[in-house]
Amino acid sequence: MLTLLLLATCSFIFLYELYKYAISRPVGFPPGPPRIPIFGSYLFMLLINYKYLHKAAITLSKWYKSDIIGLYVGNFAVAVVNSGEAVRQILNNQVYDGRPSIYLAEMRDPGKCVRGPPRLPIFGSYLFMLLINYKYLHKAAIALSKWYKSDIIGLYVGPFAVAVVNSGEAVRQILNNQDYDGRPSLYLAEMRDPGKCIRGIFFQEGVLWKEQRRFILRYLRDFGFGRRFEQLELIIQEEITDMLDLIRNGPRYEHEHLLVKPGGYRVQLPLFFNPFSANSHFQIVYNERLPRPEMAKLVKLVQFGLQFQRNADDYGRMLSIIPWIRFIWPETSGYNKLKESNLFVHKYFAEFIDRYINTYEDGCERNFLDLYIAEMRKGLPEQYGFNREQFIMGLVDFSFPAFTAVGVQISLLVQYLMLYPDVAKRIQSEIDEVVGGGRLPTLEDRKNMPFTEATIRENLRIETLVPSDVPHKSLVDTELMGYHIPKDTIIIPSLYALHTDKRIWSDPENFRPERFLDADGKLSLKLDVSLPFGAGKRICAGETFARNMIFLVTTAMLQNFDYTLAPGDSLPDLTKNNNGLIITPADFWVQLKERQH
Ligand code: HEM
Repeated sequence: MLTLLLLATCSFIFLYELYKYAISRPVGFPPGPPRIPIFGSYLFMLLINYKYLHKAAITLSKWYKSDIIGLYVGNFAVAVVNSGEAVRQILNNQVYDGRPSIYLAEMRDPGKCVRGPPRLPIFGSYLFMLLINYKYLHKAAIALSKWYKSDIIGLYVGPFAVAVVNSGEAVRQILNNQDYDGRPSLYLAEMRDPGKCIRGIFFQEGVLWKEQRRFILRYLRDFGFGRRFEQLELIIQEEITDMLDLIRNGPRYEHEHLLVKPGGYRVQLPLFFNPFSANSHFQIVYNERLPRPEMAKLVKLVQFGLQFQRNADDYGRMLSIIPWIRFIWPETSGYNKLKESNLFVHKYFAEFIDRYINTYEDGCERNFLDLYIAEMRKGLPEQYGFNREQFIMGLVDFSFPAFTAVGVQISLLVQYLMLYPDVAKRIQSEIDEVVGGGRLPTLEDRKNMPFTEATIRENLRIETLVPSDVPHKSLVDTELMGYHIPKDTIIIPSLYALHTDKRIWSDPENFRPERFLDADGKLSLKLDVSLPFGAGKRICAGETFARNMIFLVTTAMLQNFDYTLAPGDSLPDLTKNNNGLIITPADFWVQLKERQH
């Protein structure tokens, strides 16, 4: 019965969408025949007079009693003008001097058309990508590149025109060209805000994005974000000390059972590292941290953060293509899980911000939040976005990766350290030599630990956390790799393609930290042309914080423990890693052993 009901609902929605599609036309568009998927109204013209289409158009004019007919030929909106006076007007008006980019014109020059899979109604080419590799869409895109023998692939994801760029050189060009600094308005981005409005940093563009990003970065810096800052480093060390104690002595509070098994030494990844990374970040933003007994809500925040990361995908999932799918398959479409995590994360930050707004006092600066509130009270132009709602999402965006991405990347590195124990041993020798066992590693040690640094860089390359990057969008009509890219095209600069491009890396498939060392064993930044954090004006705002955390946590762990296998454990299987918005390992328990110095 339920199946029948679902089928009936789907058929009804399908027919309704078809009907809407058939009669949809721009406001004020001239009258004309309806539109059917793929062909538009072209089939009707053929039916009327397949031999002389200009006569078919005259027939339509008579039919609709109008000298101007509006119709669709495939996807193209067309106005056919059948009055002598109006024809004269058009020919003498430069506004109408453009030419459409039709395939017939493109095919005259075989080298110049962006190739890609065909487009189906509603889904575009997204179904083909899912068919090729539903698990890793960035790999599906590479397969298409091989198929079409082109480093750039043009396709449709639902209604959105998309250009996927799979050449290292072109990816770099895109990231460094502000013409591609737009962001598409995906439903996935909208649904993060209860007001169903795109706010925050990640998915904003234009003046609001620039102002907000600049302001937040400028003032967070004062509190130690994105630079070396001794006070912050001491705080991070305290967090790491708590973390090591939790490993050695096991859980003391209910919520810690989610992180470590009783008796200690067995921790759950990728969850484990994130609460400590989050606490270090919150020290910068709020000037306060949650002590271990009170971390329950923070652990929940991390869980919901990971839930969001895992339930999205590179193109915003089917939900961004046909948002109404949520009414039919709220669970399978990922809607319920995404909504649940969005609500929790939003509420967490809204409560925090409201507490500070409600207790704000002029001239008393408690932390970064007060600086933002002071800016809100200046009454700046609305387009700069200094208001409560934007404040909440801006802060979510500046914190979200700190309580998800950082711990995930460290966990991806743990997988490699388990698969390549010789690499782990070499890092431990470096730690023993430079730091010893009497104190925790510091950022000052980093320059003397080239192999450790090279390993972190190699892991960021080979296990690209954001393989398709966060999607960009062309802000104007541009040319890319000799192809015309119209304004508003979604651009996917594949960081995965850059990191596995054989023209750049001779053996990209190998995990080989030495590739970043020179002949003297020193770290060579010239050799590291990877871009795990992007580049240009959209470059990751938290790169320095992330790199620092990865170094400090990884070295502290290897200084104290070996990663081992408990009975029944098996080595990490990288093919089981999940591709959501970022790559995440499936939850796994890892066994630690006290190191014998
Ligand atoms: C290993 C950890 C991380 C990786 C690999 C990473 C990577 C990235 C990438 C690839 C982008 C998109 C760049 C583009 O649009 O071309 C990005 C954007 C961003 N990241 Fe990160 N990130 C990490 C951690 C962090 C942290 C810890 C923070 C903040 C605490 C952060 C804040 C941001 C923000 C705010 C943006 C949006 C920038 C914008 O659109 O203007 N990220 N990140």
